[in-house]
Amino acid sequence: MEIREAREGDWAQIWPFLRDVVAAGETYCWPRDTSEADARTWWMGKPGGRVFVAADADRVLGTAELHPNQPAAGGHVCNAGFMVASHAAGRGIGRALAGHVLEQAANAGYRAMQFNAVVETNTNAVSLWQSLGFRILATIPGAFRHPGHGFVGLHVMHRSLEADAPQP
Ligand SMILES: CC(C)(COP(=O)(O)OP(=O)(O)OC[C@H]1O[C@@H](n2cnc3c(N)ncnc32)[C@H](O)[C@@H]1OP(=O)(O)O)[C@@H](O)C(=O)NCCC(=O)NCCS
Repeated sequence: MEIREAREGDWAQIWPFLRDVVAAGETYCWPRDTSEADARTWWMGKPGGRVFVAADADRVLGTAELHPNQPAAGGHVCNAGFMVASHAAGRGIGRALAGHVLEQAANAGYRAMQFNAVVETNTNAVSLWQSLGFRILATIPGAFRHPGHGFVGLHVMHRSLEADAPQP
């Protein structure tokens, strides 16, 4: 499996599984019926953003995006998003994408990575991020309306990218 910078032509393969993740409404605060055009702008068009894909023989199985969490004076802290096709989940693609994105972020000079809204019931993701050194800084109670669980918390998760930070 190769992890590389996304190309414009990759979107056609990203959209079907990204649409499924968004439509499920369990992990992202996006409208569940987000249009393809809006999704493309959100994922591929963030200011200062970079997009990566995990591909197996040209078949795109997962994607990640990396962008500054805030503009200007907050631009040294990055944020990132991850989506893996459900048929390819649990095979290490999310972990590989996250490792790559963390490395790219550190190389780009970001000082930390922050996730603003990790749904607390998304336990696979929460434990993956914790295993990569992220800490839950706060949980905003009831901030996410889950289609099955009702109002659940959103974690703010953070990891330093400084060379001397404690590693997992
Ligand atoms: C979260 C997500 C990116 C993880 O990607 P993935 O390729 O399935 O994850 P991996 O196979 O790399 O597994 C990472 C860890 O997650 C857990 N995990 C993943 N899938 C699992 C499954 N089906 N059952 C149990 N544990 C699972 C495991 O603890 C695994 O740890 P390990 O490497 O020690 O075995 C993916 O499930 C996804 O796209 N989910 C929907 C969108 C989303 O939640 N994005 C993140 C928002 S914060």
